[in-house]
Amino acid sequence: MTDYDLFSPAFKANPFPTFAALREHEPIYAHTAPDGRTIWYVTRYEDVAAVLRDGDRFGKDPRHAQPAAADVPHRRAPAGRPQQSINQNMLFSDPPDHTRLRALVSQAFTPRRVLAMSDRIHETAEQLIDRMQRDDQRDVIAAYALPLPVIVISDMLGIPAADRDAVAVWSQAIISPGSRGLNYSARKRNVRAFMEYLRDLFARRQADPQDDLITALVQAETGGQRLSESELFSMVALLLVTGHETTVNLIGNGALALWQAPSQQERLQADAALWPTAVEELLRYDGPVETSTSRWVRADTEFGGRVMRRGDLMRAVIASANRDFDQFDRPDELDVGRSDNRHLAFGLGTHYCLGAPLARLEAVIALESLFRRLPRARPVLPPLAWRSGVLFRGLRALPVRYE
Ligand code: HEM
Repeated sequence: MTDYDLFSPAFKANPFPTFAALREHEPIYAHTAPDGRTIWYVTRYEDVAAVLRDGDRFGKDPRHAQPAAADVPHRRAPAGRPQQSINQNMLFSDPPDHTRLRALVSQAFTPRRVLAMSDRIHETAEQLIDRMQRDDQRDVIAAYALPLPVIVISDMLGIPAADRDAVAVWSQAIISPGSRGLNYSARKRNVRAFMEYLRDLFARRQADPQDDLITALVQAETGGQRLSESELFSMVALLLVTGHETTVNLIGNGALALWQAPSQQERLQADAALWPTAVEELLRYDGPVETSTSRWVRADTEFGGRVMRRGDLMRAVIASANRDFDQFDRPDELDVGRSDNRHLAFGLGTHYCLGAPLARLEAVIALESLFRRLPRARPVLPPLAWRSGVLFRGLRALPVRYE
């Protein structure tokens, strides 16, 4: 059995040849973690789709796969720690908890509310590009791709503009552990400060409702039930984290892919109506989420001819599924007009991305504005610094040259 490198910087720089080899030789690959637990990497399109759809066998809440996964510290912190409130969100829940939480947030996160953000996203994109030019900022990630989704989700939530910078600092602390270098006590302090701030904001919105997402979340009700304070906190945290971790990568990876494929860029310059299909193609070709969040095997089972034990961990490799020859014609080519494109960039099944309509709207506006305003921008390559970690695929920085 071959040992595949799934963690080194060289792998992160270009994981696609490794994924192609896995799909061909070991499509359901068992990796043994340092603590002895088995982690299954599933890389073919059909299998990735099957795992994401099968919440009965492959659950999200580790408590449903005890004993082996019962005490995984980064998933479930001991009671009373701030981290606990963060992880009690719908992404780490199974039905019926998940069903109730998703129904409540869906009442607040409506298509109308997303569409209403359109002008604000345009305005923000233009302002950020003005600032890039004025201050001669050259890193597309720091100056554009990161602030845009953070401003948009903060606005949608109804966080007052004056508090936005403080919230950005606090929310660094709830972003996936270690990703932006905060130690444990600084993290804890920031999470506490953020919880206090939000508790006060929830109370203010309860007393004086506004037309914003926090008010809608506070008021959402199903079957006579509302979100508890800690559920509200983790919901807001989840929405902020996804703003920080995903759309930024779609804008960054997407801009890079287009700069590396001048013929595709020319097609978009000739026909701006292609932007929505281009964004779908960028999601498929080099999407923000490399591997789905963890699934836990809930009972001993067999999948694709392999025997899995209760408590084993499943990783559905979305980036690999999206390059599978059995599903896509010429999968390693970027084609901004691709028509048959059932990519899995937003997942599938019960946990299908809640923010997909917002992410699509943001990416179309952000990329269209960037390429229209800076038509001669070019990335300064190499080297490219990709972020570490198994979940996301994104650049730490994307320096560009422009006039
Ligand atoms: C291009 C940007 C984005 C991508 C590629 C993306 C991708 C994903 C994926 C793959 C999942 C499922 C994870 C799994 O099953 O393990 C997911 C779930 C989720 N996403 Fe997104 N996402 C994006 C943007 C957003 C935004 C902007 C928001 C909200 C503001 C958001 C909110 C969520 C939520 C709340 C869930 C959990 C849904 C549930 O458990 O039912 N996402 N996303």
